[in-house]
Amino acid sequence: MTAETATAPPAPPFTLRRARTGDVAAIKRLVAPLAERRILISKESVAYYEAIQEFRVAETPDGEVIGCGALHVMWEDLAEIRTLAAADAWRRHGVGHALVELLLKEAHDVGVQRVFCLTFEVGFFERHGFEVMADQSGVDPEVYSELLRSHDEGVAEFLDLARVKPNTLGNTRMIRWLHGRARE
Ligand SMILES: CC(C)(COP(=O)(O)OP(=O)(O)OC[C@H]1O[C@@H](n2cnc3c(N)ncnc32)[C@H](O)[C@@H]1OP(=O)(O)O)[C@@H](O)C(=O)NCCC(=O)NCCS
Repeated sequence: MTAETATAPPAPPFTLRRARTGDVAAIKRLVAPLAERRILISKESVAYYEAIQEFRVAETPDGEVIGCGALHVMWEDLAEIRTLAAADAWRRHGVGHALVELLLKEAHDVGVQRVFCLTFEVGFFERHGFEVMADQSGVDPEVYSELLRSHDEGVAEFLDLARVKPNTLGNTRMIRWLHGRARE
């Protein structure tokens, strides 16, 4: 063994990258078992293609997609982390953490100040600086009425509209402020 190989850092078990259209099938495979358990909402393929630029994926060195997550911008200061999923066999290996940190950085880069998520994984998101949302008091009434014009389910979930409640039962609405990052 040479000194170089002895000191070479171990290859990372996975890397993150922007999603490509060819990843839609893998994203659907990650979402399917979670949708069956009503943890995530399954969407038609066309919805994933339309949103592909919002998605980031985690990939093993041999090209297997083992995690995904998306950042959906809703307003000037507001975005949502959605469709965050890690493959069962890869849970508790840091895939979710890496995706959330990347999506939060991208939220900051795009100019957003707070990031919403709707989840059963309250402890996980709390450890990433998210807080449980008490109510809608933080939403300016004018912005609220503008957001009401959206057809996006995530916006309806953020506004806690009655029409999405059957799908969101048991989930917790959480918010992460990016003030700290804005000062960086
Ligand atoms: C939420 C989710 C994406 C997390 O994925 P994950 O890859 O398991 O996440 P991580 O490995 O980064 O962190 C999970 C836990 O493993 C721990 N962990 C991370 N690396 C570890 C390691 N090498 N050894 C032991 N534990 C480890 C973390 O501390 C973390 O603990 P916590 O949840 O108590 O904070 C995953 O549970 C999931 O797919 N859930 C279903 C979908 C969902 O609810 N999505 C959120 C709403 S969009």
